Amino acid sequence: MTKQFSKFATRFTSQAGIVQLMEDLGSALSGEQNVYMLGGGNPSHIPQVQQFIHERMQRLLDNPAEFAHVIGDYDSPQGETLFIQALAKLFRTEFGWDITSDNIALTAGSQSGFFLLFNMFGGEFENGKIRKIMLPMTPEYIGYADVGLVDNLFVARRPNIEKLDEHTFKYHINFDELHITEDIGALCVSRPTNPTGNVLTNAEINHLLEIAGDRNVPLIIDNAYGMPFPNIVFTDIKPVWNENTILCMSLSKVGLPGVRTGIIIAPEEVIKTITNMNAVINLALGSFGPSLALDLVTSGEITRLSNTIIKPYYQQKADRAIKLIKQEFSDIDYFIHKAEGAIFVWLWFPGLLISSQELYQRLKQKGVLVISGHHFFPGLNDDWQHMHECIRVTYSMRDDIVEQGIKIIAREVRMAYQRQVK
Ligand SMILES: Cc1ncc(COP(=O)(O)O)c(C=O)c1O
Repeated sequence: MTKQFSKFATRFTSQAGIVQLMEDLGSALSGEQNVYMLGGGNPSHIPQVQQFIHERMQRLLDNPAEFAHVIGDYDSPQGETLFIQALAKLFRTEFGWDITSDNIALTAGSQSGFFLLFNMFGGEFENGKIRKIMLPMTPEYIGYADVGLVDNLFVARRPNIEKLDEHTFKYHINFDELHITEDIGALCVSRPTNPTGNVLTNAEINHLLEIAGDRNVPLIIDNAYGMPFPNIVFTDIKPVWNENTILCMSLSKVGLPGVRTGIIIAPEEVIKTITNMNAVINLALGSFGPSLALDLVTSGEITRLSNTIIKPYYQQKADRAIKLIKQEFSDIDYFIHKAEGAIFVWLWFPGLLISSQELYQRLKQKGVLVISGHHFFPGLNDDWQHMHECIRVTYSMRDDIVEQGIKIIAREVRMAYQRQVK
């Protein structure tokens, strides 16, 4: 007999894009199938970073008192105190931001931080009115799409498309279409953007801050790939934080997705509420992430590691992937989003008659996992052909996997175009 689930539970029983993605990722990385996994957001296993963490773990194991504390004691629901103090100091010295420990809370990965924040600023309010989260520009991170505890939590806008050369383009926010109505509770952007590798310019961020300030709603900036760590940013930008900004960071893309540590930097009243939510939902947060990263943050070494190891590593992988795409796709009608950061290339095949979802299926049959572009438009209800003409390809995996994957993608796309011409 099938069980009856609440409305809350049925939100999680639909085949959400993020569920499909994480299942594909899990089975590919567990080695169950022989696949070219270019679909997930898994960071690379960078040897120097792994070595650093390994040494830190060894020191922890060699210190019985510290080890007993890390595995044997609950941390506070705000997160490990010394780690939070070290983070506040890092942001004060790196960027001159006026923040203290009261402006920081940890979450069980930044993904769960978004669940808390979006349902804090969006959803039903005291007066019965529903407020929404505005994504000023899509494509935007797939992981936001299904976190709402009310239907249709997001509203979103199409971008302006600037063609930079024959095969390169860049998205920009279309400010003409950005009207922040009474029912908007917060704005959110990822910078660098997952899936496109776009990095919003300083001017765009300042303009968003102005609009958000005028309306007294926060601007949530998802800094999972940003500065100061992991700093997978290839353009010259200035990170910002003020009392109207909520900055979300993560240890995942530094190379620690397994420890599930997210960081929220926000005004005190927001941090207090997040802390209470953590207590109710989790009691406390995992201690391993803060413990492994504490020395790195206290010494500022995390910034050096990001600038001298992590960023150049991904820059080189991005260059390599783009070079390969240019070679393999030379006879194909394609555009690639300018690679300004993060760990993905975003490919656009204008006029491709099969949908990107069909392309995803065909590639999956050939053993290559990518993500169909249409998942990355949460809150955009337009019928826009462009949403079905793009795919996201991750370049953080081993070079031989990326190379084989790109070759197979080129072959399938070529076949799809040729079939059209017949
Ligand atoms: C833009 C962006 N935000 C947030 C997350 C969530 O990261 P985590 O929950 O591992 O901190 C990801 C993961 O891929 C991401 O790409």
